[in-house]
Formats: sequence, C-alpha cells, structure tokens
Amino acid sequence: MRSILVFVVALLIFTQTGYTENNYVGSEKCKDCHEKEYRRFQKYSKKAESYKHIALMEKGLTQEEFKKCFTCHTTGYGKQGGFISLSQTPKLKNNGCESCHGPGGDHIASEDPEDIKAKLTIDDCIHYHNSERVKSFKFKPLKYAGAH
Ligand code: HEC
Ligand code: HEC
Ligand code: HEC
Repeated sequence: MRSILVFVVALLIFTQTGYTENNYVGSEKCKDCHEKEYRRFQKYSKKAESYKHIALMEKGLTQEEFKKCFTCHTTGYGKQGGFISLSQTPKLKNNGCESCHGPGGDHIASEDPEDIKAKLTIDDCIHYHNSERVKSFKFKPLKYAGAH
C-alpha cells in the first residue's frame, strides 16, 4: 500500500514539474479554440513568419549575433520552456501568440481565461519595440496591427 502511495506521489511530482518546465506550447495549439484570432494572425501579422525573416540574414552574421535576434523574433527565448533552437523547439521558432499572452500551457489544460494574460501593458511592447515609438503611437497600432 505504502509503495503505491509513494509511486503516485512521485508520479504527480514528475508530471507537475514536467508540465511547468514546458509551459510554452506554440501558436498552432491555440488554433483549435481561437480559430479566428489564429487565422487573422497568420494572415496579417509579419510576426507569424519572423523566423524566416531572420534566417534570410543569418549568413551575414556570426552565431553570436544571430542568437541576439531570437529575443524578439522567436517565442520565449531565454525564458524557461521558451525557444532554444530550431531543432530543439521548432514550434516556438516564430514570434507567436505567447510572445504577448505569455506561456499558454496552463490555460490550454484548464481552458480558464484566468490562466492567460489578456490585458497587455506598455512594458509588454517595449520588450520588443523601441519605447519612443510605442509611446508616440500611444501603443494602439502595435497592439492591433501586430496582433489579430
Ligand atoms: C482547449 C481550448 C483552448 C485552447 C487550446 C486555448 N484557449 Fe484561450 N480560451 C479558451 C476559453 C474557453 C476562453 C474563455 C472564453 C473566450 O474568451 O473565448 C479563452 C480565453 C482566452 C483569452 C482571453 C482571456 C480573458 O481574460 O478574456 C486569451 C487571451 C486566450 N484565450 C489566449 C489563448 C492562447 C494564446 C492560446 C494558445 C497558447 C489559447 N488561448 C488556447 C479556450 C482555449
Ligand atoms: C529588440 C527587438 C529586436 C531584435 C533584437 C531584433 N529585431 Fe528584427 N524586428 C523587430 C521588430 C519590432 C520588427 C518589426 C518592425 C515593424 O515592422 O514594426 C523587426 C523586423 C525585422 C525584419 C523585417 C521583417 C519583419 O519581420 O518585419 C527583419 C528582416 C529583421 N527584423 C531582422 C532582424 C535580425 C537579423 C535581427 C538580429 C541581428 C533582429 N531583427 C533583431 C525587433 C527586433
Ligand atoms: C502583439 C501582441 C499579440 C499577439 C501576438 C497576439 N495577441 Fe491576442 N490579444 C492581444 C491584445 C492586446 C488583446 C486584448 C485586446 C483588448 O484589450 O481589447 C488580445 C486579446 C486576445 C483574445 C481575447 C479576445 C479578443 O480578441 O479581445 C484572444 C482569445 C486572443 N487574444 C488570442 C490570441 C491568439 C490565439 C494569438 C495567436 C494566434 C494571439 N492572441 C496573438 C495581443 C496579442
């Protein structure tokens, strides 16, 4: 009996940590429940193909320089469970839904709107965009033209 309990507890801990470490899921996973946002994003936002844009310039750069592009042109680079490399994390290669809304793993499992960030602030934008520019546009065009 006790060994079964230990096993169950170990399994719970294992699945919990496994889950948290890989909390970014990639935009593709949002499609099932948010088809309209997904379709519009793929069609109108340049971000949806952002890896392709940096890959075009890779040849002229050192690997060190190329990796700097990941901060803004991929999803979650440098964060736990975020983009690492094209071969290891292909689903996160573009700047996707989770660049703005944050990691979506918990929200997908629960389907609870409380588990995902919906209200963005200027700080979310200036991680990627020049702050002067964000301010002069009063942050609206970036919000709408770049999203969905
Ligand atoms: C299994 C279904 C499901 C998946 C997959 C899913 N969502 Fe949701 N999402 C919901 C439901 C249900 C709601 C609440 C009702 C609504 O707004 O449509 C919601 C609401 C939201 C909201 C609004 C939250 C609010 O407070 O108003 C955002 C933003 C969101 N989802 C983003 C995402 C992103 C990004 C992904 C992919 C990482 C994703 N969702 C994947 C089901 C899902
Ligand atoms: C601090 C964030 C940031 C970094 C770092 C960055 N970019 Fe960008 N990049 C952007 C933003 C934001 C845009 C979109 C500008 C717009 O159209 O409003 C962009 C646009 C581009 C475009 C035009 C196509 C497109 O997707 O709109 C190319 C090509 C590009 N970047 C290449 C690179 C390369 C190569 C690197 C690395 C050497 C790099 N960027 C690093 C933020 C960044
Ligand atoms: C450039 C940032 C950005 C990206 C990328 C982005 N969103 Fe959003 N999203 C927002 C903002 C900002 C809002 C809230 C708009 C508001 O305050 O009315 C929002 C709202 C939402 C909502 C709530 C309903 C609505 O339309 O207001 C859903 C669902 C959603 N996003 C899903 C997605 C999905 C799925 C993707 C990827 C396909 C995505 N978002 C990509 C910024 C973004």
